[in-house]
Amino acid sequence: MIKHVIAGISVVLALWASIYMYNSDKEVNKLANIQSLIKRTEIKVHLVKKTTIKKEIQQEQKNSIASKENKKMDDKLKALRNKAGNMAAFKVSPLYKKNCSSCHGATGEGIIGPKLRGKNKEYILKSLKEFKAGTRKNYVMYGLLGNLSDQQLVDLATEIGSFQEKYDKATK
Ligand code: HEC
Repeated sequence: MIKHVIAGISVVLALWASIYMYNSDKEVNKLANIQSLIKRTEIKVHLVKKTTIKKEIQQEQKNSIASKENKKMDDKLKALRNKAGNMAAFKVSPLYKKNCSSCHGATGEGIIGPKLRGKNKEYILKSLKEFKAGTRKNYVMYGLLGNLSDQQLVDLATEIGSFQEKYDKATK
C-alpha cells in the first residue's frame, strides 16, 4: 500500500516538474525573443543613424563645393569688373586711339602689331622715325606714319612710354 502512495506521489512530482520546466522554458524563450528583438531594433537604429549621418556628410560636402564654386564665380566676376574698371581708367589720347590702338591694343598690349607697353619713349620714338623715314622697313607702319608730323611722333612716343606706369596704376 505504502509503495503505491510513494509511486503516486513521485508520478505527481514528476508531472509537476515537467510542467514547471516547460513553463520556465517558455519564459526563457520569451526573454531570448525580447533580447533578439531589442538587438534587431538596435541594429536598425544604428543603420538609420549611419545612413543619415552619411547623407548629412554628403550634403555638407555638396554645400561646401557649391559655395566654393560660388566663390570662384564671384572672384571671376570681381576680376572681370576690376578689369573693365581698369580699362575704363586707362585713358589714351585720341591720336593713339584713332591710329594705333586697333593693332597695338587699347593699353598697348599688342594685337596684330607687337606689344608696345613697357617699351621706353626713346625706343618708340626711334622706331617711329625709322618707320617714317623708311629705314626700318614696314609697309603698314610706313603708310601710317606718313600722315603724322614729327611732333605727333614725339607725343605718341611720350604717351606710349608711360603706358606701363599708367597700366600698373590702373590695375593696382
Ligand atoms: C595696321 C596695324 C598697325 C597700326 C594701325 C599701327 N601699327 Fe605699329 N606696328 C604694326 C606692326 C605689324 C609692327 C611690327 C613691324 C616690325 O616689327 O617691323 C608695328 C611696329 C610698331 C613699333 C615697333 C615696335 C617694336 O617693338 O619694335 C612701334 C613703336 C609702333 N608700331 C607704333 C605704332 C604707333 C605709334 C601707331 C599709331 C600711330 C601704330 N604703330 C599703328 C602694326 C600697326
